[in-house]
Amino acid sequence: MQQYFTFGFHQCRWGYKNWSEVEAVVNNYRAFNIPLENMWTDIDYMFQYRDFTNDPNTFPYPEGQAFLERLHANGQHYIPIVDSAIYIPNPNNASDAYAPYNDGNSSGVFLKNPDGSQYIGEVWPGYTVFPDWHATNSVAWWTRNMQSHHNNVPWDGIWIDMSEVSSFCVGSCGTGNLSLNPVHPSFGLPGEPGSIVYGYPEGFNLTNATEAATATSLAALQASSAAAASPPSTATTPYFSSSVIPGVRNVNQPPYVINNVNGDLAVHAVSPNATHADGVEEYDVHSLFGHQILNATYQALLEIFPGKRPFIIGRSTFAGTGKWAGHWGGDNTSCVDTCGFNGNSDEELCNRWMQLSAFFPFYRNHNVLSANSQEAYVWASVAEASRTAMAIRYSLLPYMYTLFYYASTTGSTVMRALAWEFSNDPTLAAIDNQFLLGPAILVTPVLGQGLTSAQGVFPGIAQGEVWYDWYTQQAVVAQPGENVTIPAPLGHIPVYIRGGYVLPQQEPLYTTAESRNSSWSLLVALSKDGAASGQVYVDDGASLVPSATLLVDFTAGNGSLWASARGTYEDTNPLANVTIMGVAAKPSTVTLNGQTVSNGVSYNGSVLSVKGLEAATSKGAWAQDWVLSWE
Ligand code: NOJ
Repeated sequence: MQQYFTFGFHQCRWGYKNWSEVEAVVNNYRAFNIPLENMWTDIDYMFQYRDFTNDPNTFPYPEGQAFLERLHANGQHYIPIVDSAIYIPNPNNASDAYAPYNDGNSSGVFLKNPDGSQYIGEVWPGYTVFPDWHATNSVAWWTRNMQSHHNNVPWDGIWIDMSEVSSFCVGSCGTGNLSLNPVHPSFGLPGEPGSIVYGYPEGFNLTNATEAATATSLAALQASSAAAASPPSTATTPYFSSSVIPGVRNVNQPPYVINNVNGDLAVHAVSPNATHADGVEEYDVHSLFGHQILNATYQALLEIFPGKRPFIIGRSTFAGTGKWAGHWGGDNTSCVDTCGFNGNSDEELCNRWMQLSAFFPFYRNHNVLSANSQEAYVWASVAEASRTAMAIRYSLLPYMYTLFYYASTTGSTVMRALAWEFSNDPTLAAIDNQFLLGPAILVTPVLGQGLTSAQGVFPGIAQGEVWYDWYTQQAVVAQPGENVTIPAPLGHIPVYIRGGYVLPQQEPLYTTAESRNSSWSLLVALSKDGAASGQVYVDDGASLVPSATLLVDFTAGNGSLWASARGTYEDTNPLANVTIMGVAAKPSTVTLNGQTVSNGVSYNGSVLSVKGLEAATSKGAWAQDWVLSWE
């Protein structure tokens, strides 16, 4: 279960230079009236990319504290990155002290080589060591360092990166080389000479011909200089290692080779022969590193925020990690992430992505170092499209939160494949261009450059399923299995509501805190039999074990909608509106608990709208059970 604020929009990038730039982004979002809930910083905030430190020149603690006070006062949050590797100081440089290393070294919490020496790889800060989660003191050491960083920078959650666990060199490359520290990674960072980001999404040349032509020729020039400097390797990967000696276990070159850079498992990750405190080789537990660092971080956050659900996003997870953390997909290209990570984005792609990700559980815009800015306000059309989609997302936060409640208590899913919900229709197994948010929201995005329409099916039509257009609230006319062409100009994302469901809503305001403090509404999408049901789960939005909860059941049928609450959590926000889709004829009377509702009732082409119920529900929408009837 996540905290409520985590469902708001997140802005991140690699390359924010200082606190002022970070705060300017926050202010720009506000100026453009695009909801921003969570501001993130990448490794730029650290002193020389070292965990649990801030650069005293660009991200000093006092300035950060003042900024975070303002941010928190506005109901917004801050999430910094923490890397998996720990810088190991240069022994020949007395001023290169780094307390988290010394503390860890004396606590015996780092991975070793088979000969008992420290395993030293390489990541952003230079030569690094790696936490050993099998060591007795590792979680306490991690917690101590997180706590002391939090004392300096009161962040609200943590982003764990490089946790596969990644290392840029092969083996213990730092052994004997520490006098060179801090070394630059053995490749150019994005934006450095030879690694300038010239990539753009497909079709960029159609809309930005001159810029695209320049980028293409500069990219070709950069590629040819790189090729001249190091000709490509022609080695291929054999599937069975030739270096196998029967009876001898060689974990770096095991007999069956996976296609990891010429078969060597020590490339791009800590070597399989790194050894844990209990003698276990990394080879046997490699895929658990990401899981265990998230567990350690979870335990640390429980100490720092007692009783609160830790908010953690990690790059490497394992079965069961969802109990402690969320997962993001790592370094995707601009074609497959919110506005894109690797490469530059463009207006059209970012526009489509900001709308699509508004229906994802985790909604974060993130960008690689030195690529063009891609915050939602950078292009006017993206700003507008973001506001539109965010208004839908934020109005549905109670629905999303309830989905997470069920996911965390029953193991159900939040984002669903069509085939998952309609498992009796084998044709849906191949549908990968549409998805459902929970059982009742169908999203059919535009997935191609230059398109002005989307294509999608409406599942279950043959069995009498009804789908309503989110925007017009009218029932869709479609044949079973028909791949319908849906108009979707830039800035419009097709969204449908499934008949038979009642969706709880609140007002889409700037922050989730404001939204969850606003009046309630219900969207009732009647099935072809005029029935619907749904739930909303409410609690304080933060506690690991809430002291009070509320579960409200909604049932509609035969011209009535019942709301019935169980639980002791007090929510005093009134009910404002009820919208009922699929009402066949104009009702002559609408009543709430038998009392005629005379104002605020309208009927328009099968949609019955009842507004202004606040006075009748002023103690809170769910303070007492009620029935709304129309006939
Ligand atoms: C790799 C991560 O996947 C990416 O998201 C991040 O921006 C860089 N590391 C830099 O920290």
